[in-house]
Amino acid sequence: MFITFEGPEGSGKTSVIKNVYDYLTKRGYEIILTREPGGTPIAEEIRNVILDKKNTNLDARAEALLYAASRRQHLVEKVWPALKEGKIVLCDRFLDSSLAYQGGARGIGVEEILNVNLFATEGFYPDLTFLLDIEPSLGLKRIALNKNREVNRLDLEKIEFHNKVRQTFLDLAKKYEDRYVIIDASKPLTEVNKSVEEAIARRLKEK
Ligand code: TYD
Repeated sequence: MFITFEGPEGSGKTSVIKNVYDYLTKRGYEIILTREPGGTPIAEEIRNVILDKKNTNLDARAEALLYAASRRQHLVEKVWPALKEGKIVLCDRFLDSSLAYQGGARGIGVEEILNVNLFATEGFYPDLTFLLDIEPSLGLKRIALNKNREVNRLDLEKIEFHNKVRQTFLDLAKKYEDRYVIIDASKPLTEVNKSVEEAIARRLKEK
């Protein structure tokens, strides 16, 4: 099973994923936890180019291609082999982040970004996607309070950009309702974790 976690900045994805990792490990599942962009040495190098605050003149389509390239490398080297071995793969961001950030917020268009990504993924989609939904102004406030987290090039975008990210995620959740679960990430972390655990338990029972 391939489970992805998506959401605007400051939605608490990273804490939630760690909790899912512990939850499933305790129940005897073999899990790998990974992230995008990155997850393998080559993909992490691509990540550094994309997120470098110095790269203010990175072209929007070049950026989209870099995300897709990083995704491809990550799938081939890490995700697909793990799934073949019967592991559950938890991934911090995936395809839908490209659709929301590059497609929606950057204005390239969701369909265009989907087409580029279908080349990279060969039509591979997650089994389950959590949207940790949060009002961007609240999410950005959380980031400002969290001193351990480094600010990246995308955090520096204006609030309208993040509002478009959120809206595109909500549209995607409707379009792909079979694989999406929307979680209200403005709630306290313990509640958020519980909702995610329940949704995963339900899916595992259905399998
Ligand atoms: P990261 O430090 O992982 O941020 P977060 O904790 O919010 O996940 O940086 C990833 C950034 O890259 C984040 O701002 C979202 C963005 N992104 C895209 O724009 N497109 C993509 O396809 C992916 C995977 C991420």
